[in-house]
Amino acid sequence: MLYFDPKRTYLIAAEKGKTFHTHKGYVQLDSLIGKEYGTRVTSNLGVEFVALKPLLSDFVFKAQRRTQISYPKDVALIVMFSGIGPGSRVVEAGTGAGALTTALTHYVRPDGRVYSYEIRPEFTETARRNLGRANLLNYVELKNQDITAGIDESETDAVVLDLATPWLVVPHAFSSLKGGGTLVSFSPTIDQVVKTVEELHQNNFIDVQTIECIMRRMQAERGKTRPETLMTGHTGYITFARKSLP
Ligand SMILES: C[S@@+](CC[C@H](N)C(=O)[O-])C[C@H]1O[C@@H](n2cnc3c(N)ncnc32)[C@H](O)[C@@H]1O
Repeated sequence: MLYFDPKRTYLIAAEKGKTFHTHKGYVQLDSLIGKEYGTRVTSNLGVEFVALKPLLSDFVFKAQRRTQISYPKDVALIVMFSGIGPGSRVVEAGTGAGALTTALTHYVRPDGRVYSYEIRPEFTETARRNLGRANLLNYVELKNQDITAGIDESETDAVVLDLATPWLVVPHAFSSLKGGGTLVSFSPTIDQVVKTVEELHQNNFIDVQTIECIMRRMQAERGKTRPETLMTGHTGYITFARKSLP
């Protein structure tokens, strides 16, 4: 990732003979091949960039998008409270641009697998490109299927939902999950949360909890340190639940 300042970072592949053009001039990418991360490189206009190893959040934020993607603040909590880790078998829907899929897949490696359902084939193809860029395609199965019609996988550890009608998936998630498995549902509106929570209670899920995460960025500079004026006010609510055996 080429870093100029926090708002101007560029995720690119350093390939032989390739030039990267920015508003600050162009950079010959040849000069970066084989160099250590942290190396400084100068554009033809004399402007310095630093070559950094991309973090998971860079891949999530910089996913090419045709849908609203999951924000890293929500992704972090989804991973933390879902129990997902190396070896987990995870079902996800909808794939969208694959931003959340990227994070889930990152954490289930090397022995786990993510099965990601999406009804719109063009979104699946965007997600395939984003996951390929993050080198994660070996650990994920992208499926062009309507998840409200059923889930093929059984004995799964978690079902993670980010789609308009999560309550329609709850009975399928119950059949797919192992005892004690986790259901996670992200929804922008409270109406969706209420329908989903009611369905969870009717389907033997326990430990049902809903949270919202509000993140505020700070500008830190002596004499001027305070929260930034503008922030993302709302993304959505995250509901967690565990499957209990009947
Ligand atoms: C908000 S987007 C998901 C974004 C994704 N979490 C990301 O980070 O890129 C919701 C997606 O769910 C898909 N979707 C809606 N209903 C679906 C269904 N019944 N089965 C599978 N996918 C569905 C939509 O086509 C859309 O791509």
